[in-house]
Amino acid sequence: MKIYLVGGKGGVGKTTIAGFLSILLSERGDVLLLSTDLAHSLKDFFSIKKKGKRIKIRPSLWIFEPDIEKALKNYIGDIDKKVRENFSPTIYEDIKPFLKFSSQDPANYDLVLFNILSNEIIREEHDFMVVDTAATAQILKFATLPDRLLRWYDLLIKWRKKYVAMREMAKLNVGEEKFLPILLRKKEKMEKVKKELAQADFIWVLEPARLAFDETEKALKNLKGKIKLSALVMNKVSGKKPSVFDFPSPSLIEIPLFESEPLAGSPEGEKISAELKKILT
Ligand SMILES: Nc1ncnc2c1ncn2[C@@H]1O[C@H](COP(=O)(O)OP(=O)(O)OP(=O)(O)O)[C@@H](O)[C@H]1O
Ligand SMILES: [Mg+2]
Repeated sequence: MKIYLVGGKGGVGKTTIAGFLSILLSERGDVLLLSTDLAHSLKDFFSIKKKGKRIKIRPSLWIFEPDIEKALKNYIGDIDKKVRENFSPTIYEDIKPFLKFSSQDPANYDLVLFNILSNEIIREEHDFMVVDTAATAQILKFATLPDRLLRWYDLLIKWRKKYVAMREMAKLNVGEEKFLPILLRKKEKMEKVKKELAQADFIWVLEPARLAFDETEKALKNLKGKIKLSALVMNKVSGKKPSVFDFPSPSLIEIPLFESEPLAGSPEGEKISAELKKILT
């Protein structure tokens, strides 16, 4: 599966670019367009009223706007179940309030969204996946989470192996070890996610405005070596551009500022698609 991550500052045109890119890709294969923005807007872009989180909107194009709060509750619920099944009731009672708090904590949204993204990478059900991301900080998290989680899994695996060895030495008969295989599977999954994300094409959208330039510069500096920047899309270009522009640039394409909103199916879309084709070939 080929992955495209579309990022950039708020309002620069990420959803618009991700949308037209997905339409183009759907002529080449089966596409999943995933929104990792809390305020989903894919349905608005495609002018779709149909309900549902994951829907097929064209013969080879699916959109997925996950219900983040529900996903967080399920994610923590799953951990709750594993803790309950594998630890003593005393330990579970200690951990329970923390889990309850975590299931309502917005600080965990990006972690859950990363988990949703990871699941799609593992499932590999489509030829292409385009990710319409939220603010810049989310991309930074997505780019660094695989390494951080892998370090965490390594530590947990080390501790658990020690514990299992001690248990065996003490000849405690507590049945088959269930926790270690779960951790090893998680580690294996994350290694695949890390590899796929490192190969993903990253498309950065910006507009010719000082703040968008500054944020791009900072973000790309932080992301250096962590992602493969494939293209810069300078959107909403009208008249004079700010003069400083010396990113070690991959493909740079320019899209004009249109008078009306370039939604799916609009005449402006033809021009955007023609520019985006340059990135794909
Ligand atoms: N080239 C363009 N010319 C005119 N309007 C545009 C252009 N590109 C995008 N827009 C409009 O700008 C607005 C913001 O675009 P879009 O929703 O794609 O940005 P975004 O980066 O996804 O925003 P958010 O950060 O809120 O998710 C929309 O109303 C969109 O139709
Ligand atoms: Mg958007």
